[in-house]
Amino acid sequence: MAETAEPVGLIEALGYGVRDVPLPAFAEGAAFALVAARHAAGRLELSGDPVPMLALTAGHDAADAAWRLAARAVDLRQRRPGHGVGAGPSRAAAVRAAVCDAVARRPPPATARRLTGWEDAVPPPLHPSFDGRLDCHLFDAPDGLPLVGAVLRQGGGATAREIRALGCALTPAGAVRAALDGVLAKIASGGWTAPAEPVEVTAETTLDGTVAEGELGDRVKAKVRTVLDDERGAVIQCSLLEERPGELGPWAEHDVAGCTAPAEVPLACPPSRVRLSRLFHENSKIRAGHRTLPPVDIDRLAPTVRQALARPYRDYGRTETEYALPTEQQKQALLPLDVAVRRRRSAAPMAASALPAADLARVLDLSAGITGFARTSGGTRLPLRATPTAGGLCSCDLFVLTRRVDGLRQGVHYFHPGRRVLQLVRSDFAFAEVAAHTGYPGRVADAAAIAVFAGAFRRNQWKYWERGYRMVLLECGHLAQSVVVAAAALGLVAHPLIGFVDDYFNRLLGLDGTDDAVLYLVLLGKAAS
Ligand SMILES: Cc1cc2nc3c(=O)[nH]c(=O)nc-3n(C[C@H](O)[C@H](O)[C@H](O)COP(=O)(O)O)c2cc1C
Repeated sequence: MAETAEPVGLIEALGYGVRDVPLPAFAEGAAFALVAARHAAGRLELSGDPVPMLALTAGHDAADAAWRLAARAVDLRQRRPGHGVGAGPSRAAAVRAAVCDAVARRPPPATARRLTGWEDAVPPPLHPSFDGRLDCHLFDAPDGLPLVGAVLRQGGGATAREIRALGCALTPAGAVRAALDGVLAKIASGGWTAPAEPVEVTAETTLDGTVAEGELGDRVKAKVRTVLDDERGAVIQCSLLEERPGELGPWAEHDVAGCTAPAEVPLACPPSRVRLSRLFHENSKIRAGHRTLPPVDIDRLAPTVRQALARPYRDYGRTETEYALPTEQQKQALLPLDVAVRRRRSAAPMAASALPAADLARVLDLSAGITGFARTSGGTRLPLRATPTAGGLCSCDLFVLTRRVDGLRQGVHYFHPGRRVLQLVRSDFAFAEVAAHTGYPGRVADAAAIAVFAGAFRRNQWKYWERGYRMVLLECGHLAQSVVVAAAALGLVAHPLIGFVDDYFNRLLGLDGTDDAVLYLVLLGKAAS
């Protein structure tokens, strides 16, 4: 925040604090919230209590946004309704900002010219994939300064929503930038509204691309008052001599009273570190009214597809190295749920003894086992499992790496839920090598078996597209938790692990790592007494 150090210092001197506000992945820029000093950034906010926002500013340029927040802080301290406030590194910059702020706080004239070509001078603060429309209008303002109204609209029909913001500057391009900064601020604070009446457009005009700010001169008749002017910066209040009564309506700033700044920001990493996941999350959202997934009627799918849906698992073939899971001891008492859940501990010590095959079978039955069938109206029979599966598509496969399991060879096995067997996939590897490809070789060396969860993304994504990826991860979590709880109910230790070398495990299981990929491990072992 080097370039924001001065305005932030000024804000702190006024007795407030500043917090970063994350923008959604489709928006580009910086946003800051003005908060009480005790909530200032840099302090750990482990309580998770909501942090009330006092004001919010945003902009493509972090320093501009922070200076504007300093002006808002002064505004709050010395409420003078109808005045513009400007803050900046110099008195001249603060006067310019104050006058422009005062102009943009007055209701705009009724008509405007639609601006074209503004994108060449001022980059829109939105990711190109954003499916909305952004228009800029140059109001035929009687003031000597250009006033731009930006309108961002998304969606259609009953779900259409809109953001409007006014911006004033010394040049039309500067005014576009100021208006877009206002749009960003409303995006950051959730200031979307239902669409208002369209702006009455009288003509089109191409933007003069001069962004550099000139001098204010006496283009606007205004009275200015110096609030502060020293080495920390300058703050100016301004009132326009010419009154223009009326309401700002949809152009008014979003009132952030009641909005909360993210409480966890001091613990968060910079958005650049999580750029891909933010982008993915944004693009895997279900949005009301559009981008809705196509409905799928299973009975109308091709017979081969219906067959695949009825057997949503792999099959490594009937070989001599297929183990039918034992059925004896199925009556073995399980610990009551509350006892099992309270006793469970991931890092509990594991015994060096072998895992009974019956225990492993029980864990598999209670997690990935088939427990029933659903039948579509057309008669397709779809297997249902002990664990919920997204769309009933069973998109998470369960493998078991056996090391010390009574009656089973060491190796990678696939749990075939349809036939309730463990199919040996391979045994030509050393267990020490497996342990070495995790972040916890010592701990893994203690395990009698490892449950390996592999996402079968294509099994889900044909239906759920980008959202399918989320669903497979969730399904994997459900399945793994079933393994953990079943193991706990048998008095076993179950230790989940995400710290492993992906490509090694994918190769070990023969998965391509893209459409089918190992997601998660759970170490299993008998509890050391
Ligand atoms: C998604 C997930 C990933 C995990 N990955 C690891 C891991 O890589 N290494 C590890 O030692 N524990 C891992 N754990 C176990 C947690 O460290 C453990 O659950 C946590 O310390 C709380 O302990 P408890 O499970 O005994 O309640 C993971 C747990 C979850 C839910």
